[in-house]
Amino acid sequence: MNLNKLTDTFVLSNGVEIPCIGYGTWQTPSGDVARDSVKAAIDAGYRHIDTAFAYGNEVDVGEGIKASGVARKDVFITTKHWITERGYQKTIDTFEASLKNLGVDYLDLYLVHWPCVEKVTPDWKEVNAETWRGFEKMYKDGKLRALGVSNYEAKHLEALDEFATVKPMVNQIEFHPGYTQYDNVLYCQNRGMLVQAWSPLGSGAVLKDETLNAMAAKYGKSVAQLCIRFALQCDVLPLPKSLNPARMVQNTEVFDFEIDKDDVKALIEMPLLGFTGWRPEDAPADALVNGD
Ligand code: A2P
Repeated sequence: MNLNKLTDTFVLSNGVEIPCIGYGTWQTPSGDVARDSVKAAIDAGYRHIDTAFAYGNEVDVGEGIKASGVARKDVFITTKHWITERGYQKTIDTFEASLKNLGVDYLDLYLVHWPCVEKVTPDWKEVNAETWRGFEKMYKDGKLRALGVSNYEAKHLEALDEFATVKPMVNQIEFHPGYTQYDNVLYCQNRGMLVQAWSPLGSGAVLKDETLNAMAAKYGKSVAQLCIRFALQCDVLPLPKSLNPARMVQNTEVFDFEIDKDDVKALIEMPLLGFTGWRPEDAPADALVNGD
C-alpha cells in the first residue's frame, strides 16, 4: 500500500485520481447538519465527499462544500443515480437535477446506486443498459470525470459488458469486518475497477465487538481506525461518516500503523457481523426508496 496521507489517491482505470478516504453522508439529515458536517470534514482535511440523490441532502452537501472556501476543482464529489429514475432520458434528467442540487457544473464520479434485478423486472439487463447509456452520454459530453456502479455483483457487471462502450470504473459496496463480500472485491479488482466501501464501520454496529476491540488495542488504535486501515490495506476506498468533528479527524489518523497479514486475513474472514441484510436481489423496496 502506497498511501501516506488523506489526499493521496487511488487511480481509476481512466487515469482520474481519487483521494483515498472519502467522507460519507448517508443518513446525514438535510439542512444545517449536512451543511455544517461537510464543511467540518473539509476543514479536517477531507477532499472527497460522497452523497446520493436518495440521501436527500445534496443541496446542503453542496452548500457545505462552498462554505469551506476550498476550490471546486480541489474537492472530489460523488453522487448517485436513484432507482426510480432508470432509463436513458430519465437518467440524464436526474443527473442534471443532482448537478443543480449540488450547485456544480460537473461531477467527479457518478454511480448507479443499485442494479435493476430479475426479481423486479424480467428485462433487467436492458433496463440497466439504458441507464448506463445515459451515463456514457454524460461522460462523453465531459460532464462526468468518471462513472461507476454501486451494489453490483458479478452477474450485473457481466450483463452490462454486453452493452457498455465505457466500462464502470468503480463499484461501491457494503464492506467492513464482518461483511466484506471478498469474492466480489477480488472480482472487481481483477477487472481493474476500484472498490469503495460504504459503511466501512458497519454503520457503527461493529465498533463494540470484542475481537475487533482486542485487535485495535494491539495497534494502539480505535476500532474505527482499524476498520478504515483494513479497507485501505485491501485496496478498498473507505467512506466513513461521522457528525462529530473529533471523530472525523480520528478517522483520518490511519497512516501511522500497519495491520499485519494474519490480522488482515482474520478481518476478511470474520464471522458475519453488522451486515445490513441488503443484497441487490433482496434489499427491501422501502429501504431502497429511503436510502443506501
Ligand atoms: P458519529 O456520527 O456520532 O461519530 P459508517 O461510516 O460505517 O456508516 O459508520 C457511521 C457510524 O459510526 C456513525 O454512527 C458514527 O457516529 C460512528 N462513528 C464514526 N466514526 C467513529 C469513531 N471514530 N468512533 C466511534 N464511532 C464512530
